[in-house]
Amino acid sequence: MITGASRGIGRSIALAFAGAGADLALVSRTRGDLETVAAGVRELGRRALPLACDVSQAAQVQTTVEAALAEYGRIDVLVNSAGISPVYKRAEQTAEAEWDQVLAVNLKGMFLCSQVVGRTMLKQKSGRIISISSIGGQVGLPRLVAYCAAKGGIEQVTKVLALEWADRGIQVNAIAPAYVETDLTRGLRENPRLAEGLLRQTPLGRFARPADIIGAALFLASEAGAYVTGTTLLVDGGWTAG
Ligand SMILES: NC(=O)c1ccc[n+]([C@@H]2O[C@H](COP(=O)([O-])OP(=O)(O)OC[C@H]3O[C@@H](n4cnc5c(N)ncnc54)[C@H](OP(=O)(O)O)[C@@H]3O)[C@@H](O)[C@H]2O)c1
Repeated sequence: MITGASRGIGRSIALAFAGAGADLALVSRTRGDLETVAAGVRELGRRALPLACDVSQAAQVQTTVEAALAEYGRIDVLVNSAGISPVYKRAEQTAEAEWDQVLAVNLKGMFLCSQVVGRTMLKQKSGRIISISSIGGQVGLPRLVAYCAAKGGIEQVTKVLALEWADRGIQVNAIAPAYVETDLTRGLRENPRLAEGLLRQTPLGRFARPADIIGAALFLASEAGAYVTGTTLLVDGGWTAG
């Protein structure tokens, strides 16, 4: 099951997992976009189930996971990629509603999906959960206070779930990218002054492409990652090395 599967990083991971032999439950709010990704998955010879769901709504998450289980009978891997970043303001200007919206989707959504899918994985006695954090979970990014709070939260939830479920067959990890070329960062990347500043802070000297995140996700979902849990794998072009 992949949340945020309709676009960007989630979509890339979905197609890569299909290429590696996975059948997929594809989750986001927009059914039409999911249908397009589902068609791509089917072209690769795998099954795809598009499921419209707002991950910040507990009842919708429950129904969605039940629908995936009705189709497939089990969930081996959950990728939490659903996320938003609609606010780019200093902390003193950030409204309560903006804080709540970012935390609801990016942190509560990750927790709800992990909790509901986790219950199934506990019964299976196996499973992998991989959440897309950000360098904003590791370092402070000015004008992104709610986003950084949510991403730091994702990394803490990842550690707690990893500890609670380590002896029950479930491994829980996160991936922290720097800036990736997706809809989420279009506004920043299309502002020449901001884009130049971001690239100056990126040792590899370019934005990531969604495909740059695939290897880490495949690693954490596969046998190669069998001894990895409770960690955040940085895929950040060197951003946090300095
Ligand atoms: N792009 C970057 O530079 C970057 C860097 C570090 C981390 N990340 C993280 O990577 C993840 C994916 O980001 P992206 O860059 O791929 O963004 P994106 O291209 O904007 O895609 C976001 C995805 O999340 C879904 N989504 C948004 N709100 C949702 C909700 N309430 N319920 C269910 N699905 C929802 C969107 O579909 P709908 O709109 O149809 O719901 C879409 O599939 C996010 O968690 C983001 O914070 C991104």
